[in-house]
Amino acid sequence: MADILQIRRPASGTEAELAITEATIRATELRQFDIGGEPLATFDPGFMNTAVCHSAITYIDGDAGVLEYRGYPIAELAEHSTYLEVAYLLLNGELPNPTQLADWESQVTEHRTLPDKLKTVLAGFPYDAHPMTILMASVAAFYSFYPDARNFDDPAARSLNITRLIAKMPTLAAFAYRKGKARPYVNPDDSYGYCHNFLAMLFKQAERRYVADPRLIRAMEVLFILHADHEQNCSTNAVRSVASSGNDLYTCASAGIGALHGPLHGGANEAVLKMLREIRTVDRVPEFIEGVKAGKVRMMGFGHRVYKNYDPRAKIIKKSVEDVFEVTGVNPLLEVAKELERYGLEDEYFVKRRLYPNVDFYSGLIYEALGFPPEMFTVLFAIPRTSGWAAQYQEFITDSEQKIARPKQIYTGSRTRSYVPMEERD
Ligand code: CMC
Repeated sequence: MADILQIRRPASGTEAELAITEATIRATELRQFDIGGEPLATFDPGFMNTAVCHSAITYIDGDAGVLEYRGYPIAELAEHSTYLEVAYLLLNGELPNPTQLADWESQVTEHRTLPDKLKTVLAGFPYDAHPMTILMASVAAFYSFYPDARNFDDPAARSLNITRLIAKMPTLAAFAYRKGKARPYVNPDDSYGYCHNFLAMLFKQAERRYVADPRLIRAMEVLFILHADHEQNCSTNAVRSVASSGNDLYTCASAGIGALHGPLHGGANEAVLKMLREIRTVDRVPEFIEGVKAGKVRMMGFGHRVYKNYDPRAKIIKKSVEDVFEVTGVNPLLEVAKELERYGLEDEYFVKRRLYPNVDFYSGLIYEALGFPPEMFTVLFAIPRTSGWAAQYQEFITDSEQKIARPKQIYTGSRTRSYVPMEERD
């Protein structure tokens, strides 16, 4: 028997049966109810309960704390894969075989350099520009260099521009970082893998050859894997929304970077470190918690729209923290973080609201230990999220169900007033 929802409106005596498919009703079917001349609609700020697409990329069960990319549990990918392997999986739906992986890695390596003229764009930023601003503007500028990105209906052009963007993000991020430090840029080195090359472009000084500790390279790979995609979050929604008017990948990714920068989204990792530095010592944690409970501040790195359980990414990052600290020495703020987490898991305020550590809670400590200043933290989120955005962009533009994004509103302003001449206004 077909699953249906019966709706009856006593005020007008109208009734309708809406088909339930995939645990949803089609919102447009509500329009058959006429409410005083207006078709019935739903009101859902922040998309709290509205599905906007079918997607086969990332699966999350927030109650159970499950995250899978293309069906593979995140913990297994974090244990066995590299970031580029995961990016391939997100984009193509399957893990690459050895030939496919080697081919993909060499394509990415080939496209790592930035167009020379982009360096003049970089030079125009103030010395203390936030690197996320540089990233956002430069990624948007890529469209001027690669206008074939508008040929997104051509799979070859689409794939080339996806490769370009994934390849260039670390270079751009490293250049933004070195610009802030007034250090000369370090060009990509083809003999390094994706993460090792990124660390070299960031931190290479006068040495002839930069060699990073393999444990740090691995930690970077793991962090990149964990941040690669997270289904319909704020920045992915921005990417899809901007794509819906027929935009190229670069314009869409630039919008995604802007959305990610906010402290409620990717900017939370920077905010966590700021919070830990302000608290400073374990004995000041109870006072901070009282402030959170009184609604004065939020505990950054805690809570999630979807996870009402421990964020599976946070569990893996917590383990990476220990690996990194083995190399770099322990950050004293770790004790403050652990104490905050203890409160978060035991105190009724957090328990009742099902607030748990999210991906950003411990990542900032690793980034700091690796030598990054806080303003780079969200950049470190944006680099790997690019593969998720690209996969979601690709899925969006090949999805015949999709349309230009255009939510409804409930108008609450004045109506049809007579124009008031300037001299008659108060
Ligand atoms: N600290 C204190 N209280 C919180 C927090 C927090 N971090 N998060 C939620 N709450 C409370 C909130 O005050 C509300 O309480 P009440 O019901 O009494 O009004 C309740 O929990 C529900 O919160 P909400 O804001 O309605 O939940 P949301 O789903 O709209 O927001 C969130 C999700 C992630 C924006 C929010 O939990 C938050 O601001 N967390 C801190 C920022 C953060 O860590 N963001 C990173 C998210 S994970 C990485 C990513 O995906 O970007």
